[in-house]
Amino acid sequence: MLKLGMGTAAIGRPHYINVRSIANNYTSLEEFKQEGLKVLDYAYDLGIRYFDTAPGYGIAEKMIINWLKERMHKDIEIATKWGYTYTANFEKSAEIHEVKEHSLHKLLEQWEESKHLLPYLTSYQIHSATLESGVLENTSVLGKLNFLKNELGLHIGLTSTGQNQLEVLKRAIDIDMEGKPLFDVFQITYNVMDQSLQKICLQLATENKRVIVKEALANGRVFRNKNYPIHSKLYDTLEELASKYSVGVDAIALRFCMDTINPYIVLSGASSTFQLSENRMSLQFTLTEYELALLRQFAVSPHNYWAERKLLLWN
Ligand SMILES: NC(=O)c1ccc[n+]([C@@H]2O[C@H](COP(=O)([O-])OP(=O)(O)OC[C@H]3O[C@@H](n4cnc5c(N)ncnc54)[C@H](OP(=O)(O)O)[C@@H]3O)[C@@H](O)[C@H]2O)c1
Repeated sequence: MLKLGMGTAAIGRPHYINVRSIANNYTSLEEFKQEGLKVLDYAYDLGIRYFDTAPGYGIAEKMIINWLKERMHKDIEIATKWGYTYTANFEKSAEIHEVKEHSLHKLLEQWEESKHLLPYLTSYQIHSATLESGVLENTSVLGKLNFLKNELGLHIGLTSTGQNQLEVLKRAIDIDMEGKPLFDVFQITYNVMDQSLQKICLQLATENKRVIVKEALANGRVFRNKNYPIHSKLYDTLEELASKYSVGVDAIALRFCMDTINPYIVLSGASSTFQLSENRMSLQFTLTEYELALLRQFAVSPHNYWAERKLLLWN
């Protein structure tokens, strides 16, 4: 399987927390949906076989269910999540874009829709698990996930976000159900700026756990941006490497993730076929040890990384 997977947040809802490269000018929801379908087909044509979605990504999950019914590709893997409800109604100015709820009620409700992804569905994840939400101690939730794992052979996972990702992962790794670890998939934020999970990801890979990288482009912050003078040396290095390999900065940033933590998949968050074709270039080369060492120098503390991330707006 290609190491590059397709994340569907950007094709499922027009507004997302990131630095936008271009403003989106959709005149209708139908136009937005058609563009998303084009991206899905293009991803498949490029050889991408891993697709990540969630009910919290607007129309994304439903779009994939219908797309699979139509295309009937047999060789695709889908990962979805539960725990967020999309509430923005495609309005950028919405006061609340999504609501998080990690209850058994929400799990059962969202599973009723997500189960239509079967038989392509291979991974079912808690969307943005935190210690505070108590989800990792909720025995009825964990019991239902274990039931799905045993009944359907699903990989059970979680996604993590924020400066205490490491603590969340450590807690999850320790959860056993009927004498076996419950979690097999860990979708984490890792990139050239936040490298704090490097060690634990390498350990997970040796235990045959799946590490899925999200936000490999730091929500667009890896591209040169005058608002972040603090990253100017990183921008110089990324651009030098991009020029050496005749690719974009995005391909270097994605490749950095592939070459440093042995992930199962690195997700592209592309919102267009153009971005996806650029992201796909990450598969055409590998970075040398010297280049990886250069890039490792640009790690910032999780505290600073997430403080900067918090200031990004819904765009
Ligand atoms: N579990 C979770 O809580 C969670 C959270 C975030 C993401 N995810 C998953 O991970 C996937 C990827 O993450 P992400 O989308 O948030 O972050 P990302 O990949 O770090 O960043 C996406 C950003 O990169 C830009 N971009 C991508 N390719 C580009 C190119 N070639 N040239 C210029 N700009 C480019 C996009 O631009 P535009 O702004 O112009 O579109 C967007 O701003 C998501 O689709 C989703 O499936 C999961």
